[in-house]
Amino acid sequence: MPKITSIFLFFMTFSLSISAQEDLLMNIDGRNTISLNGTWSYIIDPYETGFYDYRYKERNENDREAYWNRPVTEKRSDRVEHGYGDKYTLQVPGDWNSQEEVFKYYEGTVWYQREFSLDELPEDKRFFLHFGAVNYEAHVYLNGKKLGSHKGGFTPFNFEIPRLLLKKEENFLVVKVDNKRHPEEIPTVNTDWWNFGGITRDVHLVTLPQNFIQQYAIHLTPGQDLETAKKRKRFDISGSIKLSGPVNDDSFVTIEIPEVRVKERFEVTGDSLAFSFRGKGIKLWSPEDPKLYEVIFSHNGEPLKDRIGFRSIKTEGKDILLNGEKIFLRGISIHEEIPQQMRRAHSKEDARQLFGYVKDLNANMVRLAHYPHNENMTKMADSLGILVWSEIPVYWTIDFENPEVLKKAKKQLSEMIIRDRNRASVIIWSVGNETPVSPVRTEFMKALIKEARELDDSRLISAALEVGNDNGVFRIDDPLGEFTDIVAVNEYLGWYGGLPGDAKTAKWEVTYNKPLFFSETGAGAKAGYHAEKETRWSEEYQEWYYREQVEMMKRMPNNYSGLSPWILTDFRSPRRNHPDFQEGWNRKGLIDNEGNRKKAFFVLKKYYEELLSEGIRDNG
Ligand code: GCU
Repeated sequence: MPKITSIFLFFMTFSLSISAQEDLLMNIDGRNTISLNGTWSYIIDPYETGFYDYRYKERNENDREAYWNRPVTEKRSDRVEHGYGDKYTLQVPGDWNSQEEVFKYYEGTVWYQREFSLDELPEDKRFFLHFGAVNYEAHVYLNGKKLGSHKGGFTPFNFEIPRLLLKKEENFLVVKVDNKRHPEEIPTVNTDWWNFGGITRDVHLVTLPQNFIQQYAIHLTPGQDLETAKKRKRFDISGSIKLSGPVNDDSFVTIEIPEVRVKERFEVTGDSLAFSFRGKGIKLWSPEDPKLYEVIFSHNGEPLKDRIGFRSIKTEGKDILLNGEKIFLRGISIHEEIPQQMRRAHSKEDARQLFGYVKDLNANMVRLAHYPHNENMTKMADSLGILVWSEIPVYWTIDFENPEVLKKAKKQLSEMIIRDRNRASVIIWSVGNETPVSPVRTEFMKALIKEARELDDSRLISAALEVGNDNGVFRIDDPLGEFTDIVAVNEYLGWYGGLPGDAKTAKWEVTYNKPLFFSETGAGAKAGYHAEKETRWSEEYQEWYYREQVEMMKRMPNNYSGLSPWILTDFRSPRRNHPDFQEGWNRKGLIDNEGNRKKAFFVLKKYYEELLSEGIRDNG
């Protein structure tokens, strides 16, 4: 290429990259996309040789030895020491740990690479790369130029591709993924789950017009008189729309709900609008009747479709009200894992398998622990009528003193909320789990609660709080409980301390006039190991634990609004190393890693059946 052109191209690319934007794109399924899932080549790079030179200086962009550059041998004498091919490949989406033995415990950098070509490259379109999630840190390069980087292992992100950088043929895409744990990250170095690394969720190339709908929120208008609205079947609906950029004056967005003959047109000023309208004949979403409507947002003739359920969730004193009626949460906690293959869950089939277990348990709610799960889970929860607690991994002893850590937590919180704020099933945003009580921690968590409310005032905000044990009197007085909508606690009376029978005399005191939710309770058992109930790790011990817990739950104060026992299935954890009973598995699952239901599964299932028959329903 003649010199002048390449210099021009460089400056054009560079200048365009400045204007390239990274605001999260919502509803990828509703967009014009090409999947980049499939077989990618990889290089394992524990010393980050592809990123730093031998003096440990970050390589400059055109460094031939940088792993983001295509290795080129022009002459036989050329020295090249890296390369991509079909000898070393990984499937995307998917964690690397479960794909090759060499990756089982690997924590470090892996370079992923693939090429893609385009049938057409229309001048009037914009192009973005969208990642469902990469754990933990991603640096994304295309044709030797960095598009951007992202931290956070469980939330989506996207980068615009400067127009001049994209080619029709053989686009060279490289992603540097690093899953090393650090004290100043979210989560920090200490977690009771496996550090699955990789491009763990879907990757798409997204084609969009010059100006498009970037984000939107639509829901029942909080605070309306629901009883009157239900009688008249006429609900106030409101929300907001954010465009990719400011528009000229006569720009409009149309919102349609064809099934109930809603078609509303709103003028846009600048790059956003807040809207409200009245929807007649709408049936509310509930676990018993998870009604979803096709909603079509149109701008510049480009329709963006979504399937939306309309419902209200709020608390009133000690009660949780769904659509104005008291509801009880028959929950279960879930990690994002398919235990049979010891891997991260990511697909619709995976979601179907996990929700199959949930339905078998007679549960109406899941606590997606301890991080935002993939979007297939929350979309399927919408369709199945399963209520969802969704959480960011502010887990245990985070570096609460560090303002940079608060920024990272807020970013993950906003990515979680923006992605799923139109999912009727999601009723609770949780800002953390079992964070140790201290003034600095409570200030940190209060800031997250404030941020969550600013992002979404239509849902409940929670966190798994700490509970004090004063000689068998369990006092729920965590200062953070003053700022959450419900008081949720994890308790393990009879597993971590005492025996299951101690639950008989346990007393519970709740300092707050708020709904009480048990976000965890559980005991371990090796499936198939049978002994007298006093024998730890036997199925009988776990069954005894659940029987005693159920009896204790029946004696709870009237704040008691639900539970999500720990946990649906056995899951991988490097902290669990008993050579006979654990071998790297946390065995508190009600189902083992081969899909066998343990005896305790049927204790909880029976309890939930009783609650249903007693009319403690999810009628919402
Ligand atoms: C804690 C924690 C879980 C953990 C569980 C356990 O409460 O929240 O992440 O796995 O207890 O010890 O099994």
